[in-house]
Amino acid sequence: MDQFKDKVAVVTGGGSGIGRALVLALAREGARVVLADVDEAAMDGVAREARGLGVEALTVRTDVSDLGQVQALAERAWQAFGGVHVLCNNAGVALWGGLERATHRDWQWAIGVNLWGVIHGVETFVPRMIAAGEPGHVVNTASMAGLIASQGLGVYNTTKYAVVGLSETLAKDLKPYRIGVSVLCPMGVETRIRESERSRPAALRNERGPAGAEVELIGRYLAPDVVAGMVLDAVRRNELYVITHDEGLEPLRRRFERMQQSIANRKKA
Ligand SMILES: NC(=O)c1ccc[n+]([C@@H]2O[C@H](COP(=O)([O-])OP(=O)(O)OC[C@H]3O[C@@H](n4cnc5c(N)ncnc54)[C@H](O)[C@@H]3O)[C@@H](O)[C@H]2O)c1
Repeated sequence: MDQFKDKVAVVTGGGSGIGRALVLALAREGARVVLADVDEAAMDGVAREARGLGVEALTVRTDVSDLGQVQALAERAWQAFGGVHVLCNNAGVALWGGLERATHRDWQWAIGVNLWGVIHGVETFVPRMIAAGEPGHVVNTASMAGLIASQGLGVYNTTKYAVVGLSETLAKDLKPYRIGVSVLCPMGVETRIRESERSRPAALRNERGPAGAEVELIGRYLAPDVVAGMVLDAVRRNELYVITHDEGLEPLRRRFERMQQSIANRKKA
């Protein structure tokens, strides 16, 4: 897709941070936007900002971990605008603490939002986008934590590695349909991600409180607007990876070298 004017874009987690920046960047390009978030007040504020940019904006309260709610979101988007061209599966939550201490509720919450949320978006929207026969794009927000493991971030790492894998395969699967796929892999971005516990459902809260101390993510903290700009450029160029931080190169190279070393060691043995 090389332009967004009059296209329809759905952004999950559109009420804050990277999602908000994606909504506004798409609105500046003239796209009609659909915001899906559990935080209705935040989402309404962002929708007002989008309308201020001269585009139509729809808000649909959606918990992306619930398939029925994502299906209802798609229904509303199609009813309101007759189609969806850009799907940003962006809603996500972070949690910290060693895997040896992770609770079942931690796993359920993180996998529910970060992985099932993306799966629900794909299974609900993609077949309808294909049926519409128009060019489109799916943007999945993973993280550099989907490519590099960090001690104390294991539950989050698990969900984000899965989102990277899903996106890499989806790009191959959707090639025949003129639907591109990008996977966003940032390091630090200035958002409310560190306050993710605010959206954890009561039923999935740990009795002993949050799982553990935060580990420092490597890299600079970028402004969400800068990241959203990189995403739109990647969509225009139909690029799979959106690696936002130059600092990512070194840990990625080390990971690859360790794999290369495994092959070399085996050959030596
Ligand atoms: N900020 C970073 O440093 C960073 C780095 C790498 C990846 N990410 C990823 O970026 C994405 C956006 O996060 P952010 O940094 O903007 O954080 P944020 O907390 O500012 O925004 C996340 C939004 O998702 C919403 N949300 C949470 N649970 C939801 C659910 N079940 N259903 C629907 N919406 C839900 C929240 O209400 C919030 O509006 C996430 O997938 C996150 O993992 C963030």
